[in-house]
Amino acid sequence: MLTQTLTLGSLLLVSLLPCLASGRNSSQFLNPILPGFHPDPSCTFISDEETFYCASSSFNAFPGIPIHASKDLTTWRLVGNVLNRESQLPELAVSVGGTSGIWAPTLRLRDGTWYLVTTMVHDKKAADDPTRWRNIIFTTRDIWNEGSWSDAAHFDFEGYDTSPFWDDDGTSYIVGSHAYKVEPGNHLAKVNLTTGELQSNWTNLWAGTGGLAPEGPHLYRKDGFYYLMIAEGGTGLGHMETIARSKNLYGPYEPNSANPILTNANTTEYFQTIGHADLFQDAYGKWWSVALSTRGGPSFKVYPMGRETVLTNATWDEGAWPVIHSPVRGVMTGWPLPETGQYLPGDGPLVDQGDNDLRFPPSCQLPPHFLHWRPPIEGNYVISPPGHRNYLGLKPSKLNLTGIDGNSAPGGQTFVGRRQVDTLFTYRVVLDYAPKEAHEEAGVTLFLTQNHHVRLGLTLLAASNTSATFTPHFRFMTEPYSSAAPPFSAPVPDSLQNTSLTLEIKAVNETHFSFAAGRADSEELAIVAHAPGDVVSWGFTGTLVGVYATSNGGNGTEMAYVSHWTYKGEGQTRSNSSPATTLVGKEGVLAVDYLPA
Ligand SMILES: *[C@@H]1O[C@H](CO)[C@@H](O)[C@H](O)[C@H]1NC(C)=O
Ligand SMILES: *[C@@H]1O[C@H](CO)[C@@H](O)[C@H](O)[C@H]1NC(C)=O
Ligand SMILES: *[C@@H]1O[C@H](CO)[C@@H](O)[C@H](O)[C@H]1NC(C)=O
Ligand SMILES: *[C@@H]1O[C@H](CO)[C@@H](O)[C@H](O)[C@H]1NC(C)=O
Ligand SMILES: *[C@@H]1O[C@H](CO)[C@@H](O)[C@H](O)[C@H]1NC(C)=O
Ligand SMILES: *[C@@H]1O[C@H](CO)[C@@H](O)[C@H](O)[C@H]1NC(C)=O
Ligand SMILES: *[C@@H]1O[C@H](CO)[C@@H](O)[C@H](O)[C@H]1NC(C)=O
Ligand SMILES: *[C@@H]1O[C@H](CO)[C@@H](O)[C@H](O)[C@H]1NC(C)=O
Ligand SMILES: *[C@@H]1O[C@H](CO)[C@@H](O)[C@H](O)[C@H]1NC(C)=O
Ligand SMILES: *[C@@H]1O[C@H](CO)[C@@H](O)[C@H](O)[C@H]1NC(C)=O
Repeated sequence: MLTQTLTLGSLLLVSLLPCLASGRNSSQFLNPILPGFHPDPSCTFISDEETFYCASSSFNAFPGIPIHASKDLTTWRLVGNVLNRESQLPELAVSVGGTSGIWAPTLRLRDGTWYLVTTMVHDKKAADDPTRWRNIIFTTRDIWNEGSWSDAAHFDFEGYDTSPFWDDDGTSYIVGSHAYKVEPGNHLAKVNLTTGELQSNWTNLWAGTGGLAPEGPHLYRKDGFYYLMIAEGGTGLGHMETIARSKNLYGPYEPNSANPILTNANTTEYFQTIGHADLFQDAYGKWWSVALSTRGGPSFKVYPMGRETVLTNATWDEGAWPVIHSPVRGVMTGWPLPETGQYLPGDGPLVDQGDNDLRFPPSCQLPPHFLHWRPPIEGNYVISPPGHRNYLGLKPSKLNLTGIDGNSAPGGQTFVGRRQVDTLFTYRVVLDYAPKEAHEEAGVTLFLTQNHHVRLGLTLLAASNTSATFTPHFRFMTEPYSSAAPPFSAPVPDSLQNTSLTLEIKAVNETHFSFAAGRADSEELAIVAHAPGDVVSWGFTGTLVGVYATSNGGNGTEMAYVSHWTYKGEGQTRSNSSPATTLVGKEGVLAVDYLPA
């Protein structure tokens, strides 16, 4: 049994690896391996370190492009975020639209340097606007030191999902996708990966098998062939992975007659939208594939966690095409897994770890898994402000969570959250807040994007529509409007006035969330509203839970104080037939210790 300790200021998080009933070298594992908002995975195995590393995409979230590492393909620790300083990529601050920001990254190590190649997409710009696609390279020689990642080096390419490749002679290339302006397909150019300088024009290698949006290309060199593996069909129910190969880098590429080589399309599987895969080998030479997937079955209606990272085993015999195991399911059998419990450096949280009553003591920083929507407004997040030791002080932004129009938020929004990583969970904070100006508001949110979120706040509203007196109200709303959960406001009951409150968001089942409030000094909470999960099932991202503060465009400047931040996973659903179960103590799943503070 291994005990890992993560110290954040005075706060202590303890996670325990359960005793493994069957010992290791079991070949059973559970999906998703990176639950919650972790789309477009790119993974690689570093044999010297016997460590697997994965990057995933982050859209407008900041810090962005999380890297996770594992020794056993089961326990994944947050190594850091590639994008951790606004100055690395200032234009993220002005991105417009919930599907904008950082799209699919590819992570590779070459001669001691890590390369992270990706695209900053301004998705609301016209398809033929060359500034829509901003292709970039980040590098570091020390992946465990997130501050060492370089600023973005730009390279010219009007497309996305860019991925580096080195030929036998060491020449570096990038392959990327065009679905729009030029001919759809996967294009190759010689690129200096340090400077981003193009050293050739772009050549379309292969447009796929005819599916929608050929994208997510990766090139592999094996047994005298160049293999070009891509995704097609769009990132919805038709998503699939296809492959072609050639003896020459520039083709012609011959498609595999067995395409698609990975898909759950046209099945009733709980895991859908499988695609955007990467391939890598473990220390025993066994092949594995990661891909993105959405849980919720083929109805594809409620999938709040969005696109998550799943694992499946593969076989790639000499001279033969790779075969990737499908269908992808929640409980899988693959190759013998490396021994678990091996030491991983770093002090980041595990991907499925909860937050146990977090405080914000003086001199601590926000934990590395906390996220803002775009780079944060400097100074709006104050740790242990005067009179509120161990609290996080939130200064209100003018803009609320909707922002200008659901898409843009120039100047920024005061919001901080973390990923939902469990089908069922309870999220709670203590909020100490006394709004003083009309319409200023602070509260909790289940946040997918500016135009898809749910929020419950405390605000000051007119006592009636003819009154000039403003009194504290709860206000609940969904964006967009949902007839199943219409917005409302209601006066805060006397018993909840002038006291710290506990605010709670809970996934009560696979399809619904409840929002509740109560006195912080009591265990009793009253449910204020329910929200259907389809409100936050949209686009490319996954839900975050967190807190916000805003003047709603008014004059408010009152700080809101937050503490006792708790996120507790209460179960994962991994198939149509099995309801959410808390697999604490089962093989491969971390038990999150929930000691009362
Ligand atoms: C697990 O399997 C690998 C490969 O078969 C072997 O090298 C290793 O010693 C095994 N580990 C344990 C703990 O049995
Ligand atoms: C890439 O650019 C750097 C910096 O100018 C240079 O030192 C390096 O030689 C270039 N590499 C190639 C392959 O051209
Ligand atoms: C790219 O193509 C243009 C036009 O065909 C040509 O003039 C140019 O030399 C090419 N650039 C490189 C780097 O090959
Ligand atoms: C799923 O079925 C549709 C309709 O028959 C077909 O067009 C599509 O190619 C199928 N997709 C896959 C990946 O098999
Ligand atoms: C995946 O692993 C299982 C169990 O070892 C094996 O039966 C299956 O053939 C493998 N699939 C592929 C595609 O390698
Ligand atoms: C949120 O902000 C938008 C844009 O400023 C504004 O139109 C809307 O009324 C605000 N919402 C509330 C509840 O005040
Ligand atoms: C004021 O509130 C009353 C009762 O809630 C409602 O019937 C009326 O329409 C409101 N008037 C305005 C101008 O909104
Ligand atoms: C809360 O405090 C305000 C300001 O002191 C006061 O006006 C109000 O009556 C108090 N509310 C309750 C329920 O005590
Ligand atoms: C999920 O919870 C909601 C809200 O309580 C309820 O209306 C719905 O019937 C529940 N669904 C199932 C399948 O139990
Ligand atoms: C903000 O303050 C100004 C000046 O006191 C006032 O005119 C205005 O109505 C206030 N705005 C709001 C939304 O309360």
